[in-house]
Amino acid sequence: MDLLETAAYDHIRDENEGPQVARGFFITFEGGEGAGKSTQIDRLARKLRAKKYDVVMTREPGGSPGAEAVRHVLLSGAAEPFGPQMEALLFAAARSDHVEQVIRPAVERGAIVLCDRFLDSSRVYQGVTGGLDPAFMASVERVAINGMMPDMTLILDIDPVDGLRRAAARRSSNDSPDRFEKETVAVHARRREAFLAIAAAEPRRCTVIDAARDPDSVEDVLTAAVFAALETLAPAKESAPA
Ligand code: TYD
Repeated sequence: MDLLETAAYDHIRDENEGPQVARGFFITFEGGEGAGKSTQIDRLARKLRAKKYDVVMTREPGGSPGAEAVRHVLLSGAAEPFGPQMEALLFAAARSDHVEQVIRPAVERGAIVLCDRFLDSSRVYQGVTGGLDPAFMASVERVAINGMMPDMTLILDIDPVDGLRRAAARRSSNDSPDRFEKETVAVHARRREAFLAIAAAEPRRCTVIDAARDPDSVEDVLTAAVFAALETLAPAKESAPA
């Protein structure tokens, strides 16, 4: 983002009467298929906006014009014949563009960024179930995120059988499962374990949320976790979140 655009955002922020945080906050949502991430992101965004936070909702793969162009190649399965390493690099290329064009500028202007999937999906889908070398995955990740580590990661945990059932119910009758959704329950079960292992290894960043419960209960737990985390942010002006 150039100086002109940054100045334009400063102007908008001055007119915003909501809480002014010294820096933004970057929250990622992770988990298996049908865990209800998008529903929960919508609900959280509504709650944060009601408190006048500047909220940016985004998703991966995609979220910026360059990354959206790569999204179709990945989800259609067009890259699948070239192997998981090719797919990992395409996810990383999309992520790099998304970080630099959307996420970093938003966090720098003080926004709360809610991102549907991010680096943990690559670690799990390409790294663990794609069987790629952890050292390769770590170096690709470093380049893709360029220091933009999430402040908070919410892992929506659900039994893959229930999750896949929900994902199928959500699909319209002429839609088929995407490249990753169509894999076996055993593969999805390994992904669940891999997300839980990340949460256990990085407990400061990651919070596991039981997504099997009804959406209102999930929302209550998730909102409480996010507002507690936001309280730790230093307000830039007197106006702290109510
Ligand atoms: P999508 O329909 O956007 O979302 P969701 O399953 O979250 O409702 O599908 C994205 C798919 O891409 C999903 O199956 C997970 C997969 N994926 C990866 O394999 N690696 C990644 O790095 C990301 C971001 C997603």
